[in-house]
Amino acid sequence: MNAVIDVEGLRKVYGSTLAVDDVSFQVAPGEIFGLLGPNGAGKTTTVECLQGLRHPDGGHVRVLGLDPWAQRSALRRRIGSQLQESALPDRLKVWEALDLFATTTLSPSNREQLLEQWGLADKRNASFANLSGGQRQRLFVALALVNQPEIVFLDEMTTGLDPAARRITWDLIEAIGKRGTTVVLVSHFMDEVQRLCQRVAIVNHGHVVAVDTPEKLIARGARQLRVLFTWEGEPLAWLESVPHVHHVSQQENQIEIEGDGPVFQHVAAALLQHSIEPTDLRVERPNLEDVFLQIIGKAEEG
Ligand SMILES: Nc1ncnc2c1ncn2[C@@H]1O[C@H](COP(=O)(O)OP(=O)(O)O)[C@@H](O)[C@H]1O
Ligand SMILES: [Mg+2]
Repeated sequence: MNAVIDVEGLRKVYGSTLAVDDVSFQVAPGEIFGLLGPNGAGKTTTVECLQGLRHPDGGHVRVLGLDPWAQRSALRRRIGSQLQESALPDRLKVWEALDLFATTTLSPSNREQLLEQWGLADKRNASFANLSGGQRQRLFVALALVNQPEIVFLDEMTTGLDPAARRITWDLIEAIGKRGTTVVLVSHFMDEVQRLCQRVAIVNHGHVVAVDTPEKLIARGARQLRVLFTWEGEPLAWLESVPHVHHVSQQENQIEIEGDGPVFQHVAAALLQHSIEPTDLRVERPNLEDVFLQIIGKAEEG
């Protein structure tokens, strides 16, 4: 891979806390790459090391061929990152923010183009405090892109947003990807990475436990299926002995069967044999969340 980000054995310790133990992955140019993991997994520390904001304690990191710590001023000019909510003074105007964040003088036409592109043209003179949540988000994206970066780092961009604002933000992230800019997206939302990312690294306790496309990660867990139906009668203990069934549980009137392979066909046949014909018999395939829990669960056991 002609990688724009190459991380090998990254390690970062804060006092007695091992924040990042052994993180390795590569990101290809133009990719939207996800870092997915629970709180405290080491995602933010990892992207801070990639941006030259923190000094790694071990491992090898190259971003755009540069050492992010030793060459951080050269790197800063070529990457963008989104700001935290508190980062802008209330009275700063939208156009002033763009000028402030541009490392070289922003030409009026470039400024106009950014304002147009991110739907802020009619807000150019509005102060930051008077922007809606969605407008702030668009401003943050415009600021992250003001220096035409080759890579953009977005850390938990949709945390705390309502569903409508999340969707708008997803569209913005897709729009960044379409420009050909590489995006590193840190998230703890499965639906988000599943929808936006070409590849995802699952991070847990400072380790990368899997790196793959969302489809391939889901395929890894595809042997695990769930068969569900409604049942009002007595317990169906015999379901446990149906081929390909691993586990049967009952929550009030909902039967849930975990199994693999042709478990659905076997359960359906066995139910018919017992003259049980549920009208809502269905099979659920795993999503990235199931796979995530499975992979993290395995890592926890091991
Ligand atoms: N500046 C810091 N000082 C001490 N510990 C920190 C600091 N930043 C993060 N940590 C700890 O390092 C671990 C990883 O944190 P972080 O990289 O923020 O994870 P994530 O972004 O996945 O939630 C956590 O245990 C966190 O408490
Ligand atoms: Mg974080």
